[in-house]
Amino acid sequence: MIQSSGHIRGGLRFVGMIAGTALCMVTFKAIAAAPADNLRQAAAGRHITIGAAAASAYLAEPDYAPILGSEFSQLQAENEMKFGLIHPRPDTDANPYNFKGADALVAFAQSHAMQVRGHTLVWHNQVSPWVREGNYTAPELATILQGHIHAVMTHFASKVYAWDVVNEAFNDDGTMRSSIWYDKPGIGAGAGTKYIEQAFRWAHEGDPSAKLFYNDYDTEEINKKSDAIYAMAADFKKRGVPLDGIGFQAHVSLKFDDPAKLESFAKNLDRFAKLGLELHITELDIRLSDSSAESLSAQAKLYGEITTACVRQPACKLLQTWGFTDKHSWIPQFYKGQGWALLWDEKYQKKPAYEAIRSALVH
Ligand code: XIL
Repeated sequence: MIQSSGHIRGGLRFVGMIAGTALCMVTFKAIAAAPADNLRQAAAGRHITIGAAAASAYLAEPDYAPILGSEFSQLQAENEMKFGLIHPRPDTDANPYNFKGADALVAFAQSHAMQVRGHTLVWHNQVSPWVREGNYTAPELATILQGHIHAVMTHFASKVYAWDVVNEAFNDDGTMRSSIWYDKPGIGAGAGTKYIEQAFRWAHEGDPSAKLFYNDYDTEEINKKSDAIYAMAADFKKRGVPLDGIGFQAHVSLKFDDPAKLESFAKNLDRFAKLGLELHITELDIRLSDSSAESLSAQAKLYGEITTACVRQPACKLLQTWGFTDKHSWIPQFYKGQGWALLWDEKYQKKPAYEAIRSALVH
């Protein structure tokens, strides 16, 4: 702060010296903008955390670590805290857990004064084969899940400030997703959101100081799925179930750049905020079908609009992208023919989207 006001004062003195010329205005602007020169500084001015999903394997890449550590104030493991990776062996094994990758990410975050967000404790995907193929009964599965939640949250207590406790538990039509945790065999078949409630209660025991989130995709707009999550959240808040916030993944395409959709997004955020919940945009990326200048500029515009929606909503405290370089993005593998979804290109060059987010944070 001291340094930045010094810059501004220096700029003003300079402006005073050669006032009236166009050159001086340009110079003043450049000097005054210095404190919000990168994403992290720009977001800090808004009290928004700016995050990226990360993977420990890439930290050794010369361009990866410096960008992650300077541009972002939070990281989240893209995969390394998921059940399948962190709990690869049964509890009967001498060493059921593998915290190596996640610990490396936490250490990196700590040495760069970044927060760490945990992802995810209960999800239908990336579950260890020993659980999927173990033919466990419902009570056995409950013991496994409770132990998993407690062990992982205890390991990261005071290091991970917030957790996606449950991820993607609803279908698009608002019904419960059939999964190993819900009904196959599950721990709450036929009982709706009861198993989610149970997971949140276990998570609160695991680390009473962690903020606990429900996270899902295609829930940015008001629709059947976000209605179902809203009903659950309202019920949880009313009954004192320890739910602190909602994560909106925001894996979108350019189709989302539609005034009606963006308005619905703002209204949706608002209704959740009114329940007293914290809102996180957790996995933002905007996939494209090509990398033409037009597409990159349309992408930048939409990144700016989504950032502005978060800036305008006081309960929106996190803007996080799902990775940061197109070199390491899940999109090409999961959406055939699409890609170019992030802020840096495959060669770690900033794309127009970068400046769109920075400027939406500043203005
Ligand atoms: C994805 C990862 O990015 C991939 O590397 C992995 O192969 C599959 O999972 N919703 C989520 C994330 O909550 O955990 C998913 O991450 C993307 C969709």
